[in-house]
Amino acid sequence: MNAVTNVTVNNVAVKSVSKRFGATVALDGVDAQFGPGVNGLLGPNGAGKTTLLRILATVLAADSGDVDAFGVDPSTGDGRLAVRRRLGYLPQEPGFHRHFSAFDFVDYIAILKEWAERRTRHDEVRRVLTLVGLADVMHKRISQLSGGMRRRVGIAQALIGRPDLLVLDEPTAGLDPEQRLRFRELLGTESAGATVLLSTHQTDDVAALCQHVVVLLAGSVRFSGTPTALAALADGRVWLADERDPRADLAWVTGDGLVRHVGEPPARAQHVTPTVEDGYLVLAGRAGHTGASEPDPAVRVS
Ligand SMILES: Nc1ncnc2c1ncn2[C@@H]1O[C@H](COP(=O)(O)OP(=O)(O)OP(=O)(O)O)[C@@H](O)[C@H]1O
Ligand SMILES: [Mg+2]
Repeated sequence: MNAVTNVTVNNVAVKSVSKRFGATVALDGVDAQFGPGVNGLLGPNGAGKTTLLRILATVLAADSGDVDAFGVDPSTGDGRLAVRRRLGYLPQEPGFHRHFSAFDFVDYIAILKEWAERRTRHDEVRRVLTLVGLADVMHKRISQLSGGMRRRVGIAQALIGRPDLLVLDEPTAGLDPEQRLRFRELLGTESAGATVLLSTHQTDDVAALCQHVVVLLAGSVRFSGTPTALAALADGRVWLADERDPRADLAWVTGDGLVRHVGEPPARAQHVTPTVEDGYLVLAGRAGHTGASEPDPAVRVS
């Protein structure tokens, strides 16, 4: 692949994408664009994150709307194959053959990805398992590994061959703090030039990792922009006080004993700089005026 192809093709766009499961509307006319770098998807349980990621990973077809992945339409057989050849995908709940060792499982995925030459394939399998810190246990059965280690086996198989499109559904769920930091580090090096889409419930992962963030609420895009712009939605709505203010939408005691509030502040409140989490809470309507009944258009800040 040459540099020109890389620049023009590593974009993913979804236009008016909808998906239903029976009576449940999982995605309701989603429009979003994702370019090279790390793109985060935030949203409450059931918002449609996994459904969108499965569509982008060509596991699921949209009911309507258009998907363009690197200039290719994955609704055709040839298009799907072209996307899959450039894709690394971590499902939210990967199915493992529990009797496989971590090495055998990742090797099996590499075979499916058409790595025919055994020696180079085994080198790649060792490389990705070492990247996620599993070098010492790669020959243990997956059934004997901890939950966080299994998550890392899933991350390792997604990294095979440094794919141009990395779709990671909650990659940091269940990882201990050190492993979450290692994940951030490895993503920085492994995904250079790639387009990464990841879902998470960790707003600090978004702040630390993502150049672009999309917030999905009830199957619709409610925000698209930078993490800084998401945090800024809570400007003037986060303050500290000695006592809980009953008018706040959300309030909790912080480590230093002060009460942090999100909502409509009183006069002369001690304002603090909002975080991505504060912006998300305001947007999600749990700490702001954007209740579900209010038909707010999506906030777009580039
Ligand atoms: N295979 C399915 N059959 C029926 N309903 C489904 C299916 N997959 C998803 N749904 C429904 O679609 C909606 C969106 O689900 P989805 O898994 O995309 O949410 P999510 O944002 O990934 O949530 P979470 O944060 O819990 O992972 C939910 O209402 C869910 O119950
Ligand atoms: Mg999900």
